[in-house]
Parts: sequence; C-alpha cells; structure tokens
Amino acid sequence: MCGIVGAVSSRNIVPVLVQGLQRLEYRGYDSCGVAIHAVSRGSTRPSGLQRARSTARVSELMERVQSDHIQGGTGIAHTRWATHGAPVECNAHPHFSYGATVDAAAEGTAVGRVALVHNGIIENYEALRTRLQAAGYVFASQTDTEIVAHLVDSLYSGDLFEAVQAAVAQLHGAFAIAVMHKDEPQRVVGARAGSPLILGVGQDGSEHFLASDAMALAGVTDQIIYLQEGDLVDLQPGRYWITGQDGRALSAEQRPVRTVQAHSGAAELGPYRHYMQKEIFEQPRAIADTLDGVQGIVPELFGDGAYRVFQVIDSVLILACGTSYYSGCVAKYWLEGIAQIPTQVEVASEYRYRTSVPNPRQLIVTISQSGETADTLAALRHAQSLGHPHTLTICNVATSAMVRECALAYITRAGIEIGVASTKAFTTQLAGLFLLTLALAQSKGRLTEEQEAAHLTAMRHLPVALQAVLALEPQIISWAEDFARMENALFLGRGLHYPIALEGALKLKEISYIHAEAYPAGELKHGPLALVTSAMPVVTVAPNDALLEKLKSNMQEVRARGGVLYVLADADTRIDSEDGIHVIRMPEHYGALSPLLHVVPLQLLAYHTAVARGTDVDKPRNLAKSVTVE
Ligand code: G6P
Repeated sequence: MCGIVGAVSSRNIVPVLVQGLQRLEYRGYDSCGVAIHAVSRGSTRPSGLQRARSTARVSELMERVQSDHIQGGTGIAHTRWATHGAPVECNAHPHFSYGATVDAAAEGTAVGRVALVHNGIIENYEALRTRLQAAGYVFASQTDTEIVAHLVDSLYSGDLFEAVQAAVAQLHGAFAIAVMHKDEPQRVVGARAGSPLILGVGQDGSEHFLASDAMALAGVTDQIIYLQEGDLVDLQPGRYWITGQDGRALSAEQRPVRTVQAHSGAAELGPYRHYMQKEIFEQPRAIADTLDGVQGIVPELFGDGAYRVFQVIDSVLILACGTSYYSGCVAKYWLEGIAQIPTQVEVASEYRYRTSVPNPRQLIVTISQSGETADTLAALRHAQSLGHPHTLTICNVATSAMVRECALAYITRAGIEIGVASTKAFTTQLAGLFLLTLALAQSKGRLTEEQEAAHLTAMRHLPVALQAVLALEPQIISWAEDFARMENALFLGRGLHYPIALEGALKLKEISYIHAEAYPAGELKHGPLALVTSAMPVVTVAPNDALLEKLKSNMQEVRARGGVLYVLADADTRIDSEDGIHVIRMPEHYGALSPLLHVVPLQLLAYHTAVARGTDVDKPRNLAKSVTVE
C-alpha cells in the first residue's frame, strides 16, 4: 500500500528517501517517485523542484535519480498502490502543480511550484477538480491526489504551512500528505487525517523526517513522534512544529518523542528463496516468542484492567479483514466451545457501514497484523462511537494505531512479516486468541486448573509440533506440481477447520492466481458439487475429530463424480492413498489447537504452486501488505 517518506536536512537526502521507500516496498506498490528541492552544484540541472517517477521497482528509481544527478537536502518520496487511475507514470507521486495557467503539456519546461505525495483517498476530489479546472488548473493525471497539489497552490501566498492548513480544511476523506513549495527550499509540511504519519527527529536535531511508518526510517532515526488525527507538521532545518485539530501549537508533552526500535524491512532471506517461505518456516519461533513469558492464564496478559472487563462482558464481537478475519473465525469456535461466550465475527468493512445493535457489555476484539488497516480501524472507531467501552486488539505491531486506540491488547511476536500473503501473523494471532479464550473461560469460572495446565502444555509443545509439519514440505511440493497445472481448486473443511479451508483457498488465489473457493464440507451437495471434475482438485482438511466420519462421506461424494482429492489426514485417521485420493499424513491430532498445524501445509501448497507458476510470490499483483485506504 502507499508509503510516504520526507526529509529536511543539510546533507543530500536522496539516498535516505529512496532507501526509506525500499523499506516500505514489502507493503506492495505499483509505482514510485521522489521529488527534491534540487541544488544545482555545478550540474547542468537547474535548482528548484525536480522529480523522478517509475512504474518499475524502487531500485530502478534509484538508478534514475543517480543518472539524472538529482540531489538536495529537502525532499518527499512515495510508493503508490493505485486507487484512482491506472498504475502509469503520470499517476505516480509526487504530483506537481505548475500554477493556474500552465498547460500540463508544457510540463517538460514548466517550473513545478508545489510537489505533493499522498496516502489515502480524497472523497470530494471531483467537486474540487471541477472548481480548480474552472480556475485554470490543468490536470496531468487521473488521481485524487493531484487536486491537493493544485489546491495548495491556489491557496499559497508566501507560507506553505498556512496554505496546507487552508487546503486540508477543504478535504474530505482519510489521508496523509507531505508537501513542498518551490519558494521554500528548506521546508516540508505534512498533515494527517485518517492515514498514519510519523515525524522522525534526526539524531542531532539538525534534520527531520516524515514517514507513513517508522520502519521507513530504520537506521536513520529511532526518535519518533506519532502524529494524531488532524495534526499538521512543519519541518524546517533544526526545528519542527506540530499543530492539533484546532490549529494550536502542541507541546512536547502532548506529542512526546518515543524511542522506537523499528525493524529494517531489509530482513535477510537466509537460505530461503522468498520471504513467504522464510516466514512459513519461522512459525515455530514466532509461536514460541508469542507465548514467551506466559507462565499461567491471567487476564492481565491483555493489559491492566482486563480482569474487571472480562468479568462484565457477556459476548464477543470480532472485527478484522483478510487473513486476520479467518483467525477470528477459528476463535469463534474456541470462544463458544471452550469459554461458552456468544461470539460474532464480522468483516470490518461490512460492520462499519451497517446498522447494528450495540451492546455495551460486548467485548470488541480487533485482529490485525499491521494495526493500521483502514477498515479495521474505522470499524473499531465505529464501535466506540456506538458506545462500546470494552475494546481489545490482537496485533503484531505494538506502536500501531490499533494498539494505541484499544483499551486492551495482546501483542503477537511474529516479527516483521514481509510477504504480502500473511502466514506467521495468522498462526501467532491464533495463539493470542487461544490465550484470550482461556482467560475469558477462567474469568467466567469455566476453566479448571487441570484444563488450564493441559492447554498450556499443548501450547508450549506447538513449536515442536509445527516443526514436524514443516518436515512434510517435500510431499507438498509433489502436490504443488499438480496444482500448478490447474485453474480452479476447491477446499473443504468442517468445524474448526472450515476457516482453515478458507485461509488455504485465500493463500492459493492470492499468490498463484488460481481461482480457489472454500466450503464447509456439508455444503458440498448444495452447489459446489456441480463444479467437481478431474480438473478441479479438492483439498480436504481431515483431522481426526468428531466430524471425521461425516467428512469421509463428503469425500465419497467427490470421488463418485470423478473429483481428485488431496487430503490432509491425521496419523490416526484411516484414510489411505488410492486412485484419485492423495493423502498426506499429519503428525498426531492436536485437539483444539489443530488449526495451527493444518494451516501450514496449505501455506506451503500455495507457496510451491506459485513458485511453479513463476508468479511474484512476495508481491502478488494488485495486492498490498498493509491496506491503509478503504
Ligand atoms: C491485506 C493483506 C493481508 C491481511 C489483510 C489484513 O489484505 O494482504 O495479508 O490479512 O490486509 O491486514 P491486517 O494488517 O489488518 O492483518
């Protein structure tokens, strides 16, 4: 998803900006660009605003700025994930305004007056565009962003901060922006309204940075100020200035500098071919880290005050998107089955826009790897606005908006996840959600000490059990060779493993582009059976649980129609490979925690199928790691 990096410094800041973009690359993007207040320093290029943009990778942008000798101390840079307008160079950021009378066709010779980068969506861009066109502005792109550059230009009368302040007041939507003006060579102004933006304070205070994510500044500064909704920030050499929603200056107490150990996005691949493969294999470690320090089940694992909250709540509403939503679907089975707490799970983008019946005794649980997903954050705020006082998040980023805005939290310790297709974040979320289930069960008097001890023992054994599942990789690779030739696949599961079938289908479609659907196996005869032929492999998640015999009947229904089955069966299930049935035996049945193990072969299946098809595994087309727009 879109990323912003900006800086004001006395040194040539271009390498820092472009490296910052490289650290944000994993989030997914389709074009990138940088604008600099260039200093001529003997080169043939004039001083003033200059930019380079590319629809290729950031490394290509770096080559371009080097060959064009673009350098300077003030700049803004961006990775774009297309929303308004195709991923072509004219839509890439930074956008320039050349003033009200300059024809964009003359762009080559015209002098840029305003340069701007933007994350998010401007909802009233059409009305503003019409107005600005009437005022003489000519548009060079299809983006909603370009209107903001022209709007700032139209409001500029010698002070960029004032122009941005006036422009922001006219914008509707969720956005973060960073802006420069040709007449103020040592100034960058930023604004945050609904999309994340942080300020990085340079080591000796002489240079300052803006970014959409602290990770972009890893290795540059760890002194971070998290801007809040409605904040404007003014960066100049040796000073910065922040104003709040009411336009008044904010003190250092109101926007404190925090020391943040941001991981560098450039994590080593080690022996792995892709980050996704590395992250699948990191799961034993990620689960161990997530459970590290859990001596026993106590509500305080989720924060101070959790005991009181867990006592009063009567139900749970889980809100999330994508893979995180599927971890919530697994948790529903646990929360109702073990803690006996009525639980709903809802896609965040649905909940935020529908009329729902608020229940102040319901615990709102958001699940998010990034903690910045726009729909999940909006759903949380919507729940709060309806009068839900009890909020909790399961999140992988301790400094994220989600953690800051929820009363309670459990931080998973998956470590940075770079592959767009989420893997270790999912299993660590499940670990956090299982702990939540146990803590709620205990608070309601539904967990004996013996049960608690047995569950904790099983959880602590998970890293070892996961290693045994990862050892199945060679068998999965042979399945993947078959799948790579297919265009469709069906995934079946029942009960706790139905969400695992959903997650397996999602992984396959995300990275191999094979159309994949998942069904609860009992629904097979109500529709999908019509699709079953030898060209539609049917993956069946078949743990040895209470539903196994029913699942076997569903498998017969597939075989009777010539369908080919790929079955993940526990060691003690009597399902054997035969003509049209391929079986991989999982290690021992793992009871309630079985979904954490069964998802792993499905991750590997998607991964190796995608590798066999030659797709860009870590950056699948059209997708983004962190979806910070609606
Ligand atoms: C995107 C990612 C998914 C992720 C989803 C929710 O679609 O590609 O991998 O599951 O966003 O993200 P979150 O950070 O909220 O878990």
